[in-house]
Amino acid sequence: MNILLTGGTGYIGSHAAVSLIQEGHNVVLLDNLINSDENILKALNKITKSEVSFIHGDIADQELICNILKSNQIDTVIHFAGLKSVAESVKNPIRYFKNNVLGTISLLDSMEKAGVNNLVFSGSATVYGNPMYLPIDESHSLDANNPYGRTKQQIEEILQSIASSNPSWKIVTLRYFNPIGAHPSGLIGENISGMPNNIMPLICKVALKQLDQLNVYGNDYETKDGTGVRDYIDIMDLIDGHISALKFIHSPKIKAMKELDGDVENYHTFNLGTGHGYSVLELIHAFEEVSGMKISYKFEDRRPGDIAENYAKIEKANKILKWNSKRTLHDMCSTSWKFISYMNPK
Ligand code: WQD
Repeated sequence: MNILLTGGTGYIGSHAAVSLIQEGHNVVLLDNLINSDENILKALNKITKSEVSFIHGDIADQELICNILKSNQIDTVIHFAGLKSVAESVKNPIRYFKNNVLGTISLLDSMEKAGVNNLVFSGSATVYGNPMYLPIDESHSLDANNPYGRTKQQIEEILQSIASSNPSWKIVTLRYFNPIGAHPSGLIGENISGMPNNIMPLICKVALKQLDQLNVYGNDYETKDGTGVRDYIDIMDLIDGHISALKFIHSPKIKAMKELDGDVENYHTFNLGTGHGYSVLELIHAFEEVSGMKISYKFEDRRPGDIAENYAKIEKANKILKWNSKRTLHDMCSTSWKFISYMNPK
């Protein structure tokens, strides 16, 4: 298949590019590089032993997008492009709604004009807000409690309306829990430069002595050890989920699934997680075990907007996408450690 990856040089987009190319698909990467670096293309070429096709551009540039879709005879778009920092979105909501929501509307309009109606959307478990019950299944209410999460929620609503308006669209939204880990080659992984918000890049910075200590935000939650619990999913399991979603979109099954999952027949949502919750302390200890490094930390007050615990119910993806997560928390920590050791040789 001919596939356009928006946000293709980002953490998730780049790992998707490798797997899709290795599966034999023709892949075009589009990225505006505000959150990633073109240098990753060298690593992608090395892993895939090919010349990855990259276009520097923005999803809001309708002339460019229509051109790419037509000249590459794109069948399906996998839409990763988007700003993704919760903290940043609270400080600058306009930037988030403009980039994520308006940008996606523009992309969808270009797709409609070019007659490309197959889409896999990179969604987020943040749309669930504070869990009413655990594990969280796809019919849990959507109530994002930060602007970033609200952009994801609004995009889902737009996608559902488009699917309902035109049966030629086939759309899958994948709600990611907490992706961590790196490609097994150690050549690509999650960028830890600057001051990341997510916990794994920060643990990596402490391991590399680029940061003295990790702040553990809250040890008074009603959880197994008082620290926040999340459903960490290995990046390669996440990408396998995208490939399963791609196959599902192009299979006759998609129309037969309406009864099973209650979605409209050409729009489906799936959680991608492991179904298990791990605490911050469990993650730190797993990383110490695989790396042999001591991760120094101190307890701080809870981070505003954080929830205590969330983890996914993944039976829907198991059953319909025939997908399951395979890698363990230790696997995720060891590929992260391999990647940062490779990028920062002693
Ligand atoms: C995980 C746990 C923190 C940093 C975010 C986005 C979500 C998704 C994944 C895109 C929490 C604790 C963190 C630190 C800490 N991204 N923590 N010290 O907030 O669960 O989810 O990333 O889709 O949409 O919201 O991830 O890695 O920031 O936090 O103690 O320095 O680690 O309190 O319990 P989060 P996170």
